[in-house]
Amino acid sequence: MTHPISKHPQLSRRRLMAIGLATGAAWTLAACGEKKPAETAAAPAAPASAPAAAAPAGRVYVVGTDAAYAPFESQGPGGDIVGFDMDVLNAVAAKAGISLKFVNTPWEGIFNTLASGERDMVISAVTITPERQQTMDFSAPYFDATQLIAVKAGSKVQKFDDLKTLKVGVQNGTTGDEVVQKLQGKASPNIRRFESTPLALKELESGGVDAVVADNGVVAHYIANNPAAQFVSLQDASFAPEQYGIAFKKGNAELQGKINTGLAAIRADGTYDAIYARYFGAKK
Ligand code: ARG
Repeated sequence: MTHPISKHPQLSRRRLMAIGLATGAAWTLAACGEKKPAETAAAPAAPASAPAAAAPAGRVYVVGTDAAYAPFESQGPGGDIVGFDMDVLNAVAAKAGISLKFVNTPWEGIFNTLASGERDMVISAVTITPERQQTMDFSAPYFDATQLIAVKAGSKVQKFDDLKTLKVGVQNGTTGDEVVQKLQGKASPNIRRFESTPLALKELESGGVDAVVADNGVVAHYIANNPAAQFVSLQDASFAPEQYGIAFKKGNAELQGKINTGLAAIRADGTYDAIYARYFGAKK
């Protein structure tokens, strides 16, 4: 099924900044050490049309992404995958002299595609967590994020703690899911898990949940592009700083090294900042 994604990939920068995308807080490992949620049965990932088998020269690296996560990754009108993550990784690949193919891959089970070899990399606004680092390797961080609460305008919810006994929508298996589990308990029937973040936000629009907790950039983008939904966002001091990384099969140091070198190069020559500014405005 296709998920509703924003028709306007380019959001209002001023608005996004106002909503509070920028976070200057320091990254702490301790802060993101929550337990991983129980996974429901993994949906099979769509097969890549390019083989991920080892082929020395001129190979095309297959990159998995859950493309229902604007502005980081979404599907354009022609089914092409576009977004901040694609712009960053394409620029990295150009520096590293490698070719990429992005393949839309459901979030559920996306990390399994690394171990199985169906994907060489996953770029999907993936938060680097100590738990995930046990089963895969990550690039250097390429983006700072945090959780953000979306509620309807006029909601009596003022802080995260107010969600303790309310119905909260999350994308299954995300860090948003984890923080709500910490508040309500893992088995809380009030945690409503969706296969994509836009589906959770649609449910908030229709009144099926009282709030959604998800990554700040995605919540801010949705609010800016869906004014009719009349959502407002709330930050909470309890939300830990998160950092996105590109994920690799554990032990794939060769590819990890290429990507880290490319990342350092695009940071050094201003390419990263130019991409960032296109999506989020000039860096603070
Ligand atoms: N940053 C969050 C996490 O890593 C959510 C990422 C979801 N990404 C996506 N493309 N759906 O858990």
